[in-house]
Amino acid sequence: MNIIRRRLATMASSRMRSWFPGTEYPLVINAPMDGIANSRLATEVTKAGGLGFIQGGRDFTPASAPLKRLEDQLTQARELLGIAPAAKDKPLPIGVGFITFSASARQHFVDTVIPILRRHRPAAVWLFAPAPDAPETLPSLIAALKSAHVPKVVVQVGSVAAAREAAAHGADVIVAQGVDAGGHQWASGAGVVSLVPEVRDMLSAEFSDREIAVWGAGGIADGRGVAAVLALGAEAGVLGTRYMVATESDAQDYERKALLSATDGGRSTVKSQLHDHVRGNMGWPDLYDGRAIITPTYKDHAAGVSLDENAKKYEAAKKGGDLSRMVTWSGTGVGLVREELPAAEITKRVRKDALKAIQGLNASL
Ligand SMILES: Cc1cc2nc3c(=O)[nH]c(=O)nc-3n(C[C@H](O)[C@H](O)[C@H](O)COP(=O)(O)O)c2cc1C
Repeated sequence: MNIIRRRLATMASSRMRSWFPGTEYPLVINAPMDGIANSRLATEVTKAGGLGFIQGGRDFTPASAPLKRLEDQLTQARELLGIAPAAKDKPLPIGVGFITFSASARQHFVDTVIPILRRHRPAAVWLFAPAPDAPETLPSLIAALKSAHVPKVVVQVGSVAAAREAAAHGADVIVAQGVDAGGHQWASGAGVVSLVPEVRDMLSAEFSDREIAVWGAGGIADGRGVAAVLALGAEAGVLGTRYMVATESDAQDYERKALLSATDGGRSTVKSQLHDHVRGNMGWPDLYDGRAIITPTYKDHAAGVSLDENAKKYEAAKKGGDLSRMVTWSGTGVGLVREELPAAEITKRVRKDALKAIQGLNASL
């Protein structure tokens, strides 16, 4: 390791490495993707020196299927990491993500989710998508997680204003999610190139008495993207789309095929609420939309086909086994997603390529 690399690694990595023991510089994280991020994926990311996340769902009503799945996934993660169930005091070196806009988050999270988290002790909890008409939810969830001694509370945001709010309520990490991201996100927002540094500057100016980290997410698909968000002021890079094609992910075959064949993500994906609405998924607040691969459904929509008609075409295609209209969430980095690999291999390659990019820049000084 040359001197510059060593100095860089010491400065920028020491905080993440002390917050998340066992992780390596630069920190590579898989997004807690709904329908994708399971315990096998998350534990492989962690074992490879990254920080793995599973998705814990959005329905927190007592005895709901997602709660049962959460308990199973955390138990399985303990097994996969070789942490005996008896070692109750040993934290689990993975995180869990939750989607928080539903009424069940306000009504039941504390009673149903917190006991599971107390039992399994994940290293971090990631919250995303508060309901705009229930501003009390985010502070109450953060307070509940802190009193349950969750080590780090992570909040994903799409604006400087939302970052300020999350920080004021006690978040330890702000994930600055740019509009290049795959999946759900703020309907209006900025790319990571401006969002990450503005969030970092705001936190440094307004919360200088607290240690709050920034992670960058959105369109990062390789080591160069991770190096770039570090240069912008983030302390880790979060990858979603790239990990969708990890061999351990829960992605369906049609999703894998769509992702591996798409190139030029700015043209092959689009950010829209149509991806939810055409499937009758009307639950997301209007504040949010999602980025997915352009399908015949979106082309019909752009050509003026009504939502009703489009929904009928979607259902008919699905029923007939035609998967071309199915929704595949994807970020604009999809053109860089070229092969299915084990999650550990993705993590190591991305980290190595990020270091290479940083060294390359230093070498030209
Ligand atoms: C298939 C998919 C599902 C996602 N589900 C969630 C989720 O459940 N919770 C969440 O906080 N973010 C979710 N996201 C967004 C990610 O957290 C992250 O911001 C995004 O994947 C980063 O952009 P990238 O896909 O270009 O890497 C999802 C993204 C994808 C692609």
